[in-house]
Amino acid sequence: MTLLRGDALSEAFDQGSAAYDRLVAASPGYHGHLRRSARRLGLADGGAGLRVLDLGCGTGASTEALIAAAPLARVTGVDASAGMLERAAGMLERAAAKPRLTHVEFVHAPAEALAGRLAPGSFDAVFAGYLLRNVQDADAVLGLVRRLLVPSGRLAVHEYTLGGSPVDRVVWNAVCSTIIRPAGRLTGDARLYRHLQESVNTFDTAPEFAGRLRKAGFQGVRVLPLPGWQTGITHTFVGRTAQEA
Ligand SMILES: C[S@@+](CC[C@H](N)C(=O)[O-])C[C@H]1O[C@@H](n2cnc3c(N)ncnc32)[C@H](O)[C@@H]1O
Repeated sequence: MTLLRGDALSEAFDQGSAAYDRLVAASPGYHGHLRRSARRLGLADGGAGLRVLDLGCGTGASTEALIAAAPLARVTGVDASAGMLERAAGMLERAAAKPRLTHVEFVHAPAEALAGRLAPGSFDAVFAGYLLRNVQDADAVLGLVRRLLVPSGRLAVHEYTLGGSPVDRVVWNAVCSTIIRPAGRLTGDARLYRHLQESVNTFDTAPEFAGRLRKAGFQGVRVLPLPGWQTGITHTFVGRTAQEA
């Protein structure tokens, strides 16, 4: 199968946006795991004075996790799918009722277009939840992320990346065949969830992705596990840019 990329992927997410929040809410641990990864950024003082980029923010599930981990940060969510961002705006309206929320904005753009739109060092931290497996050139996007971060800036990537054991791959494909893809067919989003299964099967394993981060210039890279059925399947990767630009 050819993986969905670029406009074809954005169209699939536009179409899938209506059912997306319901599907992920039914996935045990989805929101809790994002919150755990967002906390792993280690942003001090509730993120006061910090600018945080949520790259591939989708319907705002990861943005909500960042708001919970750093309610005082200035958060910018970027996504290539207008349909997903419409849902994110709804999330923000509901969250705006919360008193400590300072500033969140959403930008409709592919990650790859940010180089021309944002100055180097625009962010203190970047979070990428389930994004990098979807882009055409993960190394190029990581290079861009490094440039958008300040020196000693923090990165957390939350991604389906299979661990070293063959059992991880078996569990992933069993979950996809019995739960994820049937659910995707029911909501009319068969293409998107076939892409999900195959993109995980063909993307980096967790050790490979950690190596990719180091090669892209990130320091102190650590791979952290997540609980539940996602153990060995979903990981948080944390790292920092160098002290000097
Ligand atoms: C699986 S969703 C994850 C959304 C959210 N981060 C979360 O954790 O629920 C992946 C998102 O990445 C977006 N995306 C994929 N490729 C992108 C790109 N090149 N630039 C910006 N967004 C992209 C999709 O539109 C989609 O909303």
